[in-house]
Amino acid sequence: MLVKKSRVQTFDDWIDYFHQWRVDIGYPTDLIGADYTFETKLSELESDEVEFGHFAGQRKWEKVSDIPDQRIKDALLHLIEFQGDTEFASVEQQKGLLERAPTKYDLDSMLRVNREEMRHGWQMGYLLVTHFGDAGKQRSERLLTRRASERTRLLGSFNEPVNNWLDFFTYTDFIDRDGKYQLNMLSRSAFAPLAQSMRPMLQEEAFHLLTGNAGLMRIVKAGVIPTAIIQKYFNKWISTAYDLFGQDESSTAYWAYLWGVKGRYDEHLFDAAPDMNKINDVSRNQYYKEVAAIVDALNKNIKPDQQKLVMPDIKFNRAVGMYAGQPYSVTGELLSPEEYEKHKMDVVPNEADVQFVINLEKEKTPWIVDPNQPATPAR
Ligand SMILES: [Fe+2]
Ligand SMILES: [Fe+2]
Repeated sequence: MLVKKSRVQTFDDWIDYFHQWRVDIGYPTDLIGADYTFETKLSELESDEVEFGHFAGQRKWEKVSDIPDQRIKDALLHLIEFQGDTEFASVEQQKGLLERAPTKYDLDSMLRVNREEMRHGWQMGYLLVTHFGDAGKQRSERLLTRRASERTRLLGSFNEPVNNWLDFFTYTDFIDRDGKYQLNMLSRSAFAPLAQSMRPMLQEEAFHLLTGNAGLMRIVKAGVIPTAIIQKYFNKWISTAYDLFGQDESSTAYWAYLWGVKGRYDEHLFDAAPDMNKINDVSRNQYYKEVAAIVDALNKNIKPDQQKLVMPDIKFNRAVGMYAGQPYSVTGELLSPEEYEKHKMDVVPNEADVQFVINLEKEKTPWIVDPNQPATPAR
């Protein structure tokens, strides 16, 4: 088969494309900070041996030529491309909010999140270009040519619009939290350079989750945005996050596990082998519980006259898995397709809900608690 030669031949070529991508999407590069340099970060391996699956106990693969089967190389290529795609997409989704940051602190936080996502995409670009030959070079280019604004990013959440800072905080709390799961699951990969990439990324990712979670807490404490509106943003983002865990009975997850390239969340804490057909579901359920605990914590700070926040049902608004495309309500009832269309308009942000938050941002109404204000005790 003839493989078209990529314009990218070396990682330096790719870096040129990366800088061009920032220009093309209109990112205000001068705000990133002159003292920040993008770099590849590889940590020590926690174990030199493959930690799970068919090759457990053998030496981890340092090079692609060490990988025993072409299908495993293809699976890795796919995983790395998808991960990189999400990183660049998130910057495209968020960049429009920089000029409406509620405080200098929030502006600095978003700039840090954005540059770290760029670095994560850079890290995936590095793996593709350095290790995966022509196929990797081609995919490394695609990381920089798809666009969230054109809905050509690979996964649903990463094509959704991030219109205001309530979107941003919901996104970083819940979509970046999915990111934490994905990175954790790759952190024990049999492919050593991938495993070594994950710890520095996870350390950076922790700040993103914290930014989102603290932001949401400050919003509910301020009590200016009605929780009925916040709920719609939760319905929008958390439902797409469920999809990010993949098919319910996934052969991709099955093989990725068997080949040792992607484990369970906190794989090292399990004693027994997984139910091989339920790998994605186990992670999705674990994520659900983690987010539900966050929603509980937010509820403790909601003003008494406001409704409490709840988790959208796992069947709502799904595009992947057994509930994909089915008209389930946000509370899990099966509706007729017509009822569902009407229902959905009521439970995800409409134009007025988007504009409501944007107006608060523009009016400089204190809609979010100052980040430096000491925390008020929970009611
Ligand atoms: Fe990231
Ligand atoms: Fe992130």
